[in-house]
Amino acid sequence: MKILGIETSCDETAAAVVEDGTKILSSVVASSLEMHQKTGGIIPEVAAREQIKCIIPVIEESIKSAKSIKGIKDIDAIAVTYGPGLIGSLLVGIETAKTLSDVWNVPIIPVNHLVGHLYANWLQTNNPQPTTHNSVPEFPAIALVVSGGHTDLVLMKNHGQIEWLGGTRDDAAGECFDKAARLLELGYPGGPAISAAAQLATSNQQPATKLPRPMISDDNLDFSFSGLKTAVLREVMNLKANQQYNNLATYQLAHELQEAICEVLVTKTLKAVKKYQVKSLLLAGGVSANSRLRELFQSAISHTPSTIKLFIPEFKLCTDNAAYIASAAYFNNFPVPWETITAYPSLAIDDKT
Ligand code: KG4
Ligand code: ZN
Repeated sequence: MKILGIETSCDETAAAVVEDGTKILSSVVASSLEMHQKTGGIIPEVAAREQIKCIIPVIEESIKSAKSIKGIKDIDAIAVTYGPGLIGSLLVGIETAKTLSDVWNVPIIPVNHLVGHLYANWLQTNNPQPTTHNSVPEFPAIALVVSGGHTDLVLMKNHGQIEWLGGTRDDAAGECFDKAARLLELGYPGGPAISAAAQLATSNQQPATKLPRPMISDDNLDFSFSGLKTAVLREVMNLKANQQYNNLATYQLAHELQEAICEVLVTKTLKAVKKYQVKSLLLAGGVSANSRLRELFQSAISHTPSTIKLFIPEFKLCTDNAAYIASAAYFNNFPVPWETITAYPSLAIDDKT
């Protein structure tokens, strides 16, 4: 079964064709990142206007470049993200997908963007990672979804059976990276910028003040990252007052922030793994592209006595794309009449809306 996926929940405009939920035949992602770099973040109206311009060319390109696809007649269904995300951006993808479903007379499957992220772990890759297995994840699985707007820990009992276990009470992990990078004047998006700056920190220099590890020892599976951003702000102000704020201080602080975020994510996730005795652990979302986070999870799993398998998507599949939307639709194949699909900007990962 060949599914055309369409994803426009944030600033990317993406389309992909995926066969049987695992084989990427094409994947096209157009980003308006350069425009957002100028403003230090996404302006929703600007993002949506750009998406209107490129949605049709991106879909055309995804069909044209898909191996073994001759044309629309080879597409069995359309999958589209219906939430969560920016309302204007979601509508661009949804209205286009609805129109194509009607005109082409193919079924349409609405996909939750956060659930979609999880399915990056079902996609075959040409670029094997240390966590690439010959098989797909086995259930039950614990999954950590860490994106720009969400941090959720869930138990996947099967396809379509997702139980929310915990999540952030305030800022998401990606949001913390983005806001701290802005404070440190490292640019946008903050995750890759903090990660690059952290690599420039040197161990023989005075380390940055230790930042808190929020909620790390709490007896729950929740997170809180907004205090970390405030702690970074306080440290920057202190350093400036003492005329010690320079590039090296920024690198040390970026390094300590990355350590703090990663330690909390790994510790809380392993708590869930122990509690639920699962067969697989899945990472997903833009922050799972963080090399330090990947390294810490690999090390932690290699030290657990159980035979749990760790799945981390290939780098380019961690951030927003339409291949995982098409994959999610294959494994949760519930078409609906196109007229019933609307955008849900604040959809939760376990929402059945
Ligand atoms: O999943 P995603 O592409 O979009 C959303 O659905 O939000 O995630 C974007 C987030 C941003 O906050 C970005 O800073 C973060 O993922 N990110 C990273 C890295 N690459 C992207 N965070 C840490 N390290 C990275 N290498
Ligand atoms: Zn995303």
